[in-house]
Amino acid sequence: MSTRSVHTARIAPKDHQPAGPLAPGPWPLDPSLVFLNHGSYGSVLRPVLQAQSAIRERMERDPVRFFKVDLEPLTDGVRERLGAFLNCRPADLALVANATVAICTILNAADLSPGDEVLVTDHEYTSVTNELARICARTGAKLVTATIPFPVRDSDEILARYLACVTPRTRLAIIPHITSATSLIFPAAAIVRALNELGIDSLVDGAHAPGQIPLDVGAMHATYYVGSGHKWLGAPKGTGFMHVRPDRQGRLRSLALSSRAHKVRPERPLFLRDFDYMGTNDYTPTLSLPSALEATGSLLPGGWPALMRANHDLIMRGRRVVSASLDIEPPTPEALVGTMATLPIPDPAPHLLDRPTAYDDALQDALYERHRIVAPIWRWGPQNRRVVRISAFLYNRVEQYEMLALALREELGREQSVRATA
Ligand SMILES: Cc1ncc(COP(=O)(O)O)c(C=O)c1O
Repeated sequence: MSTRSVHTARIAPKDHQPAGPLAPGPWPLDPSLVFLNHGSYGSVLRPVLQAQSAIRERMERDPVRFFKVDLEPLTDGVRERLGAFLNCRPADLALVANATVAICTILNAADLSPGDEVLVTDHEYTSVTNELARICARTGAKLVTATIPFPVRDSDEILARYLACVTPRTRLAIIPHITSATSLIFPAAAIVRALNELGIDSLVDGAHAPGQIPLDVGAMHATYYVGSGHKWLGAPKGTGFMHVRPDRQGRLRSLALSSRAHKVRPERPLFLRDFDYMGTNDYTPTLSLPSALEATGSLLPGGWPALMRANHDLIMRGRRVVSASLDIEPPTPEALVGTMATLPIPDPAPHLLDRPTAYDDALQDALYERHRIVAPIWRWGPQNRRVVRISAFLYNRVEQYEMLALALREELGREQSVRATA
C-alpha cells in the first residue's frame, strides 16, 4: 500500500451539478454527497446530537457536581441500557473512548512471555496489528497470522483455516467479528466455542458488529468482546465498550490510572471505577448512547431487527448493481454479508500507483472530487488487491450505488486510458 498521503491532492470537479443523494432526512450529512461509507464513522441523528448537547449543558452548569457525583450513576444507566441491547450483564461492561483503546488495553494486560503465540488473521484492522507489533517486540511473544482467503466460500472455511493455526503455545486469539476492509462476517461464536474448549483466551473485535448484525454477547462467552457505538448504533464519536469475563476483570486495569484509582470503595468493583473515570474528558458521547439506541432503533416500526434487515437488503442490491456494472464476481456468499460489502477492483497502471492522495488511493479522491461520492478504496491481502467497500444505511438509495457504478466505470476507464497513452 502506498504510504504517500498528501492533503493538498485536488482534482478538478466536473462542471455539472453534483449527483447528490436523496433525502438525507434527520441526519446532518452534507446533501451534496453520495455517502456510501456509514461503516467508518457512522452518522448521528439530529435528535441524538440534541440529547448530547443537553447533557453537555448539564455538565457545564455545575461541572464539579457533574464529575464528582452525577457521572457515576449516569454511566451505570448507560451500562444497563447497553447491556440489555447486547444481552449481557451490565457490570461486565467497561465504557471507553473507542475500540482502539479497548483493544490496546486488553493486549497490554495479556501478560505475554517469549514463545507465547498471539493468533490474528490477515483481515485484522491495522490498529490491532500495530499495537501487537509493539507488544511482541517488547515481550518476545510471536504473532501468528491465519490466512483467510478472499474470495471465501463459507464460514466453515473461515473456521477451519482459523483453528488450523491454533497451537499449544497460543495464549491469546483475536477474532474480527466483521472485518474492516473485506466486510466479512466471521463465525466468531463457533471460533470462541472451540477456543474455550482448549482453554485459550479470546478477544473478539466487534467494532463493526453492534447494529450491523444481531448480537448476543452474553451467550458468546468470549474472554473479551470489544465493540463501538459510533458506527452502526448511531452514537456520537467516542463510544467504545468492552465486555470482560468476570474472572479477568481484576487484572485488567485502565491504561491510565486516574486520580481516583487509590480510593478504597468496597461497594464498587475496581473494574468499573478504573474505566468509568479516566480523567477529565467529555463523557457526553457515552452518556448519549441510550438516546442513540432509542432513536436509531425507532427508525422503522420493526425496531433494530427491521433496520438491520433493511440495511442488509439494500447492501445486497447495491452490491449486485456495482458488481454487475463492473463485471466483478462478488467474493462472499450473502450469509457472510452484514450491511457492508467489499468488491475487488482493477489496478491502475504501475506509474499511477503512487499518485498523491488524501486517503489511501487516488481513486477515492477522484470519486469525491469529481462525483461527490464517499466510498473507501483500500488494498488488502497477500496480493495487495485493490478493493472498494460500500455501506448501506437507511438514508441510502439503490440509485446511489448506480451512481457509484457509473463513476467507477468512468474513473477506472480513465486510469486505463492513461495507461494506454503513457
Ligand atoms: C475491525 C475494526 N476494529 C477496530 C477498529 C477501530 O475502531 P475505532 O476507530 O472506533 O477505535 C475499526 C475501525 O474501523 C475496525 O474496523
